Amino acid sequence: MAKKKIAIIGGGQIGGVLAQLCAQRELGDVVLFDIVEGMPQGKCLDIAEASPVDGFDISLTGTNNYKDIAGSDIVIVTAGLPRKPGMSRDDLIEVNSKIMRQVAEGIKQNAPDSFVIVISNPLDAMVTLCQKITGLPYNRIIGQAGVLDSARFATFIAWELGVSVRDVTALTLGGHGDDMVPLVRYANVSGIPVMELLERKYGNAAKAKEVMDAMLNRTRKAGGEVVALLKTGSAFYSPASSTIAMVESVLKDQKRVLASCVYLDGEFGVKGYFVGVPTVLGAGGVEKIIEFKLDAEEQAMMDKSVAAVKGLVDTLA
Ligand code: APR
Repeated sequence: MAKKKIAIIGGGQIGGVLAQLCAQRELGDVVLFDIVEGMPQGKCLDIAEASPVDGFDISLTGTNNYKDIAGSDIVIVTAGLPRKPGMSRDDLIEVNSKIMRQVAEGIKQNAPDSFVIVISNPLDAMVTLCQKITGLPYNRIIGQAGVLDSARFATFIAWELGVSVRDVTALTLGGHGDDMVPLVRYANVSGIPVMELLERKYGNAAKAKEVMDAMLNRTRKAGGEVVALLKTGSAFYSPASSTIAMVESVLKDQKRVLASCVYLDGEFGVKGYFVGVPTVLGAGGVEKIIEFKLDAEEQAMMDKSVAAVKGLVDTLA
């Protein structure tokens, strides 16, 4: 089988970790693009020189020329400013939409047949803009947010209950903002509802709810928690890992069910917007959107989150 080609646009914190993970897992040849001269070349040289030690056998090309992304199977977009302490993701829209316009044009001209995953924030708006400019079909462009938001929720559950993260399943829907929708009803440990385990641990429902509410709040603000600690940028290891799960599912046709920011055409009561929902990712890109019934409270949270996404996206025009 011919080797796959993965282009990463934006060779900063997330881009660098992504390049290393793609190399270490031999997912394909890597092209790392950035507007900063020398930086993507330097990072690729650095990663390549670890290949005899790590034992991976793929090529890495750092570049400032969009022509080098031609023929990519997957293009991952990380270009854009990260937030600083005190900023919301939405505060990035003006500067990052300017960057996204250039990037999307580069993809349209050079890799129009690729599958695109956007990571730049504010995520839901950046995916929307990227699709508008590239004109990519909706099954070939998604955003990464839900895998990470769900992973953060799962991490806090595992810590709280003292169990392995591998046995925790947690799902977060909606936009990638403070109104995101972590689904309590479906959160489980090896199939056992988390709320039941919390009630047993604390012996009463009120305390269990209080603990869950604190985890929900932390999940919603988890990105900001990292920003406040780092001070100079935002999370990059976990966004990169989350994106790799999506890349792998597409390249290896795994058909994993991963929360992705996808274009909705009536699903979950949303029409014409990119919002996070569970999707089957495989060789055909977004192969299926998994729809299921939300209860009244969940639907209300979803509606609130979607309203926030709409408010932001509609300012793009
Ligand atoms: N074209 C390509 N790359 C660009 C452009 C552009 N027009 N403008 C800026 N970049 C590059 C920067 O040179 C930088 O190397 O994008 C890179 C961004 O890297 P970082 O500043 O390290 O940011 P990072 O932490 O990787 O986050 C990138 O993902 O999660 C989001 O909010 C985050 O929007 C941010 C993005």
